[in-house]
Amino acid sequence: MKKKNLIFDSSTMSKTNVFLLFMLLFCSSLAFLVQASVTYDHKSIIIDGKRKILISGSIHYPRSTPEMWPDLIQKAKDGGLDVIQTYVFWNGHEPSPGKYYFEDRYDLVKFIKVVQQAGLYLHLRIGPYVCAEWNFGGFPVWLKYVPGMEFRTDNGPFKAAMQKFTEKIVGMMKEEKLFQTQGGPIILSQIENEYGPVEWEIGAPGKAYTKWAAQMAVGLDTGVPWIMCKQEDTPDPLIDTCNGFYCENFEPNRKTKPKMWTEAWTGWYTEFGAGVPYRPAEDMAYSVARFIQNRGSFINYYMYHGGTNFGRTSGGPFIATSYDYDAPIDEFGLIREPKWGHLRDLHKAIKLCEPSLVSADPTVTKLGNNQEAHVFQSKSSCAAFLANYDPKSTATVKFANSQYYLPAWSVSILPDCKTEVYNTARLGAQSAVRYMMPSGSEFDWQSYNEETASADDTDASTMFGLWEQINVTRDATDYLWYMTDVNIGANEGFLKNGQNPQLTVMSAGHVLHVFVNGKLAATAFGGLSNPKLTFSENIKLNAGVNKISLLSVSMGLPNVGVHYETWNAGVLGPVTLKGLDEGERDLSKQKWSYKVGLKGESLGVNTLTGSSSVEWVEGSLVATNQPLTWYKVTFNAPAGNEPLALDMSSMSKGQIWVNGQSVGRYYPSYTARGKCYDCDYAGIYSGTKCLSKCGEASQKWYHVPRSWVKPSGNVLTVFEEMGGDPSGISLVKRTTGSVCADVYDSQPTLDSLENKAAKPKAHLSCPQGQKITEIKFASYGWPKGRCGYFSEGSCHAHKSYDAFQKVYMVRKDLLQNCVGQQSCSVTVAPEVFGGDPCPNSIKKLSVEALCN
Ligand code: GAL
Repeated sequence: MKKKNLIFDSSTMSKTNVFLLFMLLFCSSLAFLVQASVTYDHKSIIIDGKRKILISGSIHYPRSTPEMWPDLIQKAKDGGLDVIQTYVFWNGHEPSPGKYYFEDRYDLVKFIKVVQQAGLYLHLRIGPYVCAEWNFGGFPVWLKYVPGMEFRTDNGPFKAAMQKFTEKIVGMMKEEKLFQTQGGPIILSQIENEYGPVEWEIGAPGKAYTKWAAQMAVGLDTGVPWIMCKQEDTPDPLIDTCNGFYCENFEPNRKTKPKMWTEAWTGWYTEFGAGVPYRPAEDMAYSVARFIQNRGSFINYYMYHGGTNFGRTSGGPFIATSYDYDAPIDEFGLIREPKWGHLRDLHKAIKLCEPSLVSADPTVTKLGNNQEAHVFQSKSSCAAFLANYDPKSTATVKFANSQYYLPAWSVSILPDCKTEVYNTARLGAQSAVRYMMPSGSEFDWQSYNEETASADDTDASTMFGLWEQINVTRDATDYLWYMTDVNIGANEGFLKNGQNPQLTVMSAGHVLHVFVNGKLAATAFGGLSNPKLTFSENIKLNAGVNKISLLSVSMGLPNVGVHYETWNAGVLGPVTLKGLDEGERDLSKQKWSYKVGLKGESLGVNTLTGSSSVEWVEGSLVATNQPLTWYKVTFNAPAGNEPLALDMSSMSKGQIWVNGQSVGRYYPSYTARGKCYDCDYAGIYSGTKCLSKCGEASQKWYHVPRSWVKPSGNVLTVFEEMGGDPSGISLVKRTTGSVCADVYDSQPTLDSLENKAAKPKAHLSCPQGQKITEIKFASYGWPKGRCGYFSEGSCHAHKSYDAFQKVYMVRKDLLQNCVGQQSCSVTVAPEVFGGDPCPNSIKKLSVEALCN
């Protein structure tokens, strides 16, 4: 029998059948298209045809090293993240026009592939304006000098450059098949960044630019949605998203778009001269739970790992070198507890609710004055969020015929509308005490004196008047010397009466060291909120020629503000001398000599090859407390694999290099202003609510990535501007001293969904390679204090320690429950601690275990 082609032989099929088959093929090809694409509707981002609740976290690739990336991303995955979000840092990738750099910390493709290998998605915020406390908001400095340039507006040269770079990045991603439509991890992109406030200020050209940027982005045909953040008039089909400490009340500009939170701030950045911000885990979790209960479907932690502003990448000015951000993974790549664990548990609870969240809209009912239930009831599932917005009082609420206890400022999550598995204010996760342990490295310093430049230097260029700093340096260095001569007649009155004249120097910023006849007279400095400074002091001048040398130092270029490209730095004047016989002498318009950078920089003394080009002194000749000094030492890597840092508290201000790589600017002498108060998790959070380190250095430790250090023969170079004691510098290892758990016996637990009678557990886990050596504290009852500072309360179970120290037999082996183990778990219930020490009361267990 002749074989028949089933599809095309119409003799075997009715017309209806052919039509049905055609429809089937058409639909399946459509299904394939849907599967391979990322779309969205009013509920959520849709991947592979499925609505998703997505948990994302920011990790900026140049703020860590490629060696750290796999571990950071694995920790993010273990923390319950689905997506990694990063900006793209234009000035790192195109240091000069058309010359691209994608190596080492700037290996964007490699970073994205690490994310892909971990099985996570990626959100690529191309910008190319990024803000991010990054030098110049991510723009290359050369961009400012393109003729006719105006940043972030309807400006031809700007749009051309922005489009060229955006196309370059999208092209690279396509070539590497990194978009989801090509089988890659990128599910979302971003164009611009928080343009709304700028558009609002500049009006019509801003509106035109927004439209252009959206069209340009969509035209690049990436196959995945674009977003614009903090921009109410985001054009379709781009999604407008929210950034902030809280976003529960945000609504996208169309009912067809999902509610997304692209920057949920986990803490805040540190500036030199200010306290170090932190954000309690309870409030972080509360803000996320509120967003999700109000129909939010995408949340990104900014930052999940903040990292380090290596080199001269920090913006501001005055943004610290540490960009730790109090993120769930700390600057050094270690998980920060209890924040990391508390959020991991939150993500688990949210994922248990996902089927209901993506299919139903919430019904909101009042449970009390300040309490609400948000119920997502679908055909086959139900999830509820019970919220207590009261910042002061706890509440017991009745919901679906049961009673629930809600701590102040908290949300409880019930994935089946019955069983409470999580409350944002009840920390089930362990906390840890970390400290910096001396590494034992002994430093035998050498020093080399940087010369104070003077107007006589042959390599100085001479001009009349005062010049703007960045126009001269093009930001190739932090340093610009302004030098001039001041002639004092032999008969000047002050030479006899001893009343030294007053030198006043007005500068646009950021730091100014004033040298008179080669000696540092004083330093003046600005800050992040006002980089401008005025130096005004009486100075000692001699009869004849006096050398005034002003070293103006940049602390990073601004990264935010309308037309921040027009902001100035350096000594713009006036510069005056008061108290002379002639009255006031204006030095501003006279002859000034300029020198870009330090002599040591031009000789490359901070590099491995250049450091031998100068004569270093050692032993007792090493300079201490002397301004403008280079220091150098050779050292071996400390044993172990703990993260490393340099304690710079004995120094004042300068820069650090390890094996020629720049660690960044240090400035421990700029101590944190203001007062730090005890901070309660409850109540509205802001970047200044919870601060630490007031009165101390804003940053004392500087991260040295392990991968920069070889087993032996490493060179550490320091340039000190103001004077310090190098013998106080030490290399330290970031070490976990102890871990703690602090768990209520009535606390909801994720296990209770499967086993209603499940009791909460205290989990203790020392980092890999360490073990629990001792139980420092254990109390079941009403213990007080926090990790590292626990004490017994008036109710205490006498067998509190036993559960952790108990020795028991498994087959023939004697085992200890916790001591000697890397990790252990103990159920929090009266019987475990020898009975109820105070019946009919809420009790908790606090325990601290030492790790070694
Ligand atoms: C946002 C901005 C981020 C970052 C953050 C503060 O407004 O989009 O890039 O600057 O503020 O850390």
